[in-house]
Amino acid sequence: EPEVIRDKEAMRRWSRSMRSQGKTIGLVPTMGFLHDGHLSLVRQSLTLSDVTVVSIYVNPGQFSPTEDLSTYPSDFSGDLSKLAAVSSSNSDVIVVFNPRNLYDYNDGERRKKKTNGGGGGGGGKVVVSCVEEGGLGHETWVRVERLEKGLCGKSRPVFFRGVATIVTKLFNIVEPDVAMFGKKDYQQWRLIKRMVRDLDFGIEIVGSDIAREKDGLAMSSRNVHLSGEERQRALSISKSLAMAKASAAQGKTGCKELKDMIISEIVGAAGRIDYVEIVDQETLEGVEEIKSGIVICVAAWFGTVRLIDNIEINVA
Ligand code: PAJ
Repeated sequence: EPEVIRDKEAMRRWSRSMRSQGKTIGLVPTMGFLHDGHLSLVRQSLTLSDVTVVSIYVNPGQFSPTEDLSTYPSDFSGDLSKLAAVSSSNSDVIVVFNPRNLYDYNDGERRKKKTNGGGGGGGGKVVVSCVEEGGLGHETWVRVERLEKGLCGKSRPVFFRGVATIVTKLFNIVEPDVAMFGKKDYQQWRLIKRMVRDLDFGIEIVGSDIAREKDGLAMSSRNVHLSGEERQRALSISKSLAMAKASAAQGKTGCKELKDMIISEIVGAAGRIDYVEIVDQETLEGVEEIKSGIVICVAAWFGTVRLIDNIEINVA
């Protein structure tokens, strides 16, 4: 099984010792409950770098107090076995970085203050993330101001701020040469690429294709929360995306019609649409007509589960 590092200073020491041996480091940030989508990122990282760090950390900073932080699935020992299987077949080095709380800078001090009745509280301030709710005193956030606003940012206003911040922290702790992100979370991948460019991180960001179940459902840790029947209905997302791409290839390039088609498929399967948008792959700005370099992005609820998926179209 892979070595597990829990302390951030130990993590940084490990990376620096690898670097001093001339090894390149790949980072795969995850929130655990690993599936084949995560593992495909790990495999890709192993081919691109000498050693790979897989971080497993459910980041409270990207959840609002009304979201599913407390029910986010986890299976740490299962995750380790899956990673062991990946590394044994390649005889490659994988370590797991599994910190306890990356926002708690002074655990002892904070506890002392709490028992004195001080510290902690938000003082009437609007609490927007689980980190603020926890009253940990973290106050520095990284924001990619335009890209964080559209698509998932509309219904999850603190999400990308939390993602950009934790990824920055992971970059500063692990100091990787290359980091892997899945195109399943298309906006996240684009936003991290932009952040790395804008802030001059010397890290290569690689986007990896969406791993799907045999029937087309995009793999996601949250899929376990779907009932059998909801899971069946959720296939309308990947099916309608594929249909839209096929229609576009046949010359139906009006985005309004394509979006309406996707919406009616998903609503027909009793899904609740969050958004269906056809946007430029880089700027994520909406387009009217299908042209080269666009992506169709969908978010929809089935029961209590919010699912996202997308399909790229690159016509000549
Ligand atoms: P998580 O949802 O665990 O995903 C970790 C990485 O796996 C992300 O880059 C995500 O895009 C990728 N991934 C998930 N499902 C995939 C699939 N079906 N195919 C390909 N890649 C897939 O995304 C996060 O965690 C967090 O926001 C994180 C980046 C770790 C920051 O907390």
